[in-house]
Amino acid sequence: MSGNGRMKSIIVTRDLRKDYVMGTETVHALAGVDIEILRNEYVSIMGPSGSGKSTLMNMIGCLDSPTSGEYVLNGQAVQDLSDDNLARIRNREIGFVFQTFNLLPRATALHNVELPLIYAGVSSKKRQERAAHALEIVQLADRMDHKPNELSGGQRQRVAIARALVNDPSILLADEPTGNLDSSTSEEIMDVFDALHENGQTVIMVTHEYDIAARSQRVITLVDGKVEAQMSVDYYLARGIKQPTAAPAPAPASAPETAPAPEIAPTRETAPTPPPTTAPMDPPPPEAAPPAPGTPRPLSNPWAPPRTPPLDGGR
Ligand SMILES: Nc1ncnc2c1ncn2[C@@H]1O[C@H](COP(=O)(O)OP(=O)(O)O)[C@@H](O)[C@H]1O
Ligand SMILES: [Mg+2]
Repeated sequence: MSGNGRMKSIIVTRDLRKDYVMGTETVHALAGVDIEILRNEYVSIMGPSGSGKSTLMNMIGCLDSPTSGEYVLNGQAVQDLSDDNLARIRNREIGFVFQTFNLLPRATALHNVELPLIYAGVSSKKRQERAAHALEIVQLADRMDHKPNELSGGQRQRVAIARALVNDPSILLADEPTGNLDSSTSEEIMDVFDALHENGQTVIMVTHEYDIAARSQRVITLVDGKVEAQMSVDYYLARGIKQPTAAPAPAPASAPETAPAPEIAPTRETAPTPPPTTAPMDPPPPEAAPPAPGTPRPLSNPWAPPRTPPLDGGR
């Protein structure tokens, strides 16, 4: 059962669940998530507020352990690891970028970027070299000695990206990295992610904004802790589906029900050209409140097709 695409998978989850017990109530933040992400893929995760996006990112990033299910990261079964080994894997494999930057306010950009290397036990000289190099990648070589409050929001986020990259992680995770930035600064940050992806970096990004998701290759939509849909961005772009009011498109005739995830992954170059459009993309809707009981739920993502293709042939 190990197909070609399977060998290139860097992330595989099977029936991943995360429950939070709050007094007498249990929140099923993840209610059985099966995803598969390929090395060098650029995937965005969308879905309404509370649908489990950050919880999934925290599991993928080894910041927290699932209640049950399997998670294989780069060939290693993460669910079986001790906390120590989890921390080691996290440091080696994962770079994490947050909406709020999470920089040390009193440390320079260089020192902020050095931090993961301190935890990894790298010598001071090597640390400085590698941190300086990471800052060059995000084009902040000339701001190394600045503290966060001496930097713009976009520059702060670039420092955070450099910090995420400094260990040369196999996966770069970003949870709403442009959520605190204005639109032109968001563009600047997205250009950084694009360049990293073009250089072979695997990128997984949570976003609410369709024009940001459109830069990725595949959109995974979560609803109520489950994968509602996962389709290539070209699927949506080629059909001009980008307005929240757009009717869901019929399933493509060429995509069989049993297509495995790797098959629907990136084909940007070969995809049909999207129809030309003059209308600017609508601003993203605010995060939807949960519908009243009994209300038919509108599609949380205007890009979501009416069905979820099974990940791996319904195995
Ligand atoms: N640490 C926690 N303790 C209890 N409940 C949590 C915790 N983190 C998340 N949740 C709950 O889990 C659900 C999913 O949250 P989250 O993953 O943050 O959603 P999203 O990022 O999609 O907005 C929500 O109902 C949220 O209230
Ligand atoms: Mg979140």
